[in-house]
Amino acid sequence: MPNSHKLPWWRTNVNYQIYLRSFKDANGDGIGDLQGLLEKIDYLATLGIQALWLTPFYPSPMKDFGYDVADFKMVDPLFGDLSTLEQLVKKAHHNGLKLITDLILNHTSEAHPWFVDSRKDRKNPKRDWYIWADPKADGTPPNNWLSVFGGSAWEWDQPSGQYYLHTFLKEQPDLNWRNPEVKEAMLEVMRFWIDLGVDGFRLGCAHHLLKDPQLQDNPPAKPSHPRKDIGPYDMQQHLHDKGHPDLHPLFRELRHFLDNYRPEFPRLGFGELHGCSWEEWVSYYGQNDDELHMPINFNLMNTPWKATAVREVVERVESILPDWAWPNYALGSHDDPRLVTRVGEAQGRIAAVLLLTLRGTPTIYYGEEIGMTDMEIPHEREQDTWGLRMPGLGRDGARTPMQWSPRGNANFSPADPEKYWLPVNPNHHEVNVASQLIRTESMLTLYRRLLFLRANTKALQVGSYQGLDFAPDDCYFYLRAHRSERFLVALNFADQVRECPLPEQFNQGLILVSTHEREEKNLAGNLVLEKNEGLVVKLQ
Ligand code: NOJ
Repeated sequence: MPNSHKLPWWRTNVNYQIYLRSFKDANGDGIGDLQGLLEKIDYLATLGIQALWLTPFYPSPMKDFGYDVADFKMVDPLFGDLSTLEQLVKKAHHNGLKLITDLILNHTSEAHPWFVDSRKDRKNPKRDWYIWADPKADGTPPNNWLSVFGGSAWEWDQPSGQYYLHTFLKEQPDLNWRNPEVKEAMLEVMRFWIDLGVDGFRLGCAHHLLKDPQLQDNPPAKPSHPRKDIGPYDMQQHLHDKGHPDLHPLFRELRHFLDNYRPEFPRLGFGELHGCSWEEWVSYYGQNDDELHMPINFNLMNTPWKATAVREVVERVESILPDWAWPNYALGSHDDPRLVTRVGEAQGRIAAVLLLTLRGTPTIYYGEEIGMTDMEIPHEREQDTWGLRMPGLGRDGARTPMQWSPRGNANFSPADPEKYWLPVNPNHHEVNVASQLIRTESMLTLYRRLLFLRANTKALQVGSYQGLDFAPDDCYFYLRAHRSERFLVALNFADQVRECPLPEQFNQGLILVSTHEREEKNLAGNLVLEKNEGLVVKLQ
């Protein structure tokens, strides 16, 4: 295998995000589970990815579908039990797959025993494990901080006469990471999962862990502030309720733990951060590779789908990262509209070529490999509290069941489809794994080709990146090179044919992957790209 033993696994792997509720239901309750996932490990291993990022499976009242955790060291019976999770770790490892679990550090469920104790009374030893504050003189919340999901970030607790902070739902109280006991309790959670064999953590809401201890008001947003259009929350500059400078020493401690708890096999810290400037984002890698291994990079998801804009993002990443830091890219997640919904099917194929040939660890969102799209969810079936509270912001459309087959309601579950937690997208008759596996022109075949090529090509895994200026309008060309191996990636973002003469050092080569099934053809001086065509060419 080309994987160099000197490089950490997370640099050469391709990650695949599994939204567990929607992947595969084995027990027939209409909700995906661990046993269902176990049954699909062979699919994942042959797809050609090398790591799974699994969304939360912990006991939870499911107000935020598992991101409201009531016990960090257990499995919710809805998803299985600890022994199924152990089997999953074993089977994943046996198939060469690493397992990254989602660990929500910022908050718990209100049903977590820590919070149950904390809200009992002001003298409870767990009181300070959460962020409590007195009202202002007029009884209103301590400051102007807002919840991401709408409304004030403070909830009044009548019996104890104080407000508690919740950056997300009121059922998700924020932990107080300034209390050393909280930190120790969370390290204990990480030890538990590492001992069970997990390879890394997606550190959920890492950006929010520390806030201003003085609880100062946030100023209004500057017009230039990066925004995601999530309503009033966007109207503030989140100066005091997230991204506090004290995050750096905290991340250093977490990194030290991840690197040293089992020094023979350091664990990955893959941190979730949204809406930060490039400078802030890169700062979370640390000064000298001593904070997060990789702060997740969602920037391409919020970039206009144009050759120049996409190139600009990639080159920003390339120029801003220190030599020792490793890039990463994601084009979808359970919190955002799906890739093909955003850019269309033809450009979805270009996006696949881009994601799997850039320098940096790619993360594929489940179903992206078959081109799943968002579904309009009928109001009576809507689940996401965010969407129910703030119409238009719901995330259900991107979380519908995985489409395994054209028949049997996509073969997601043996349950009556009315009982599926979310409906199956009616396009599963065309967009599904079984049909696409046997079609050479399918999205799935394209992903499999790209994944196979990446897994077997040093230049694509670890080679250098160079943007190429001779690309015609609406095209983005780049070179990936390692020693004598050189690959030209040519992407046409236009719905029109584009043609360009190739400079001498680029004009001899063999097409290894094409979105238009032109594999095994030779380049001959002039490059003609069909509309929406992407190519990976091995140069001579
Ligand atoms: C991060 C998760 O990605 C998102 O789905 C969730 O709603 C928030 N954390 C809040 O728990």
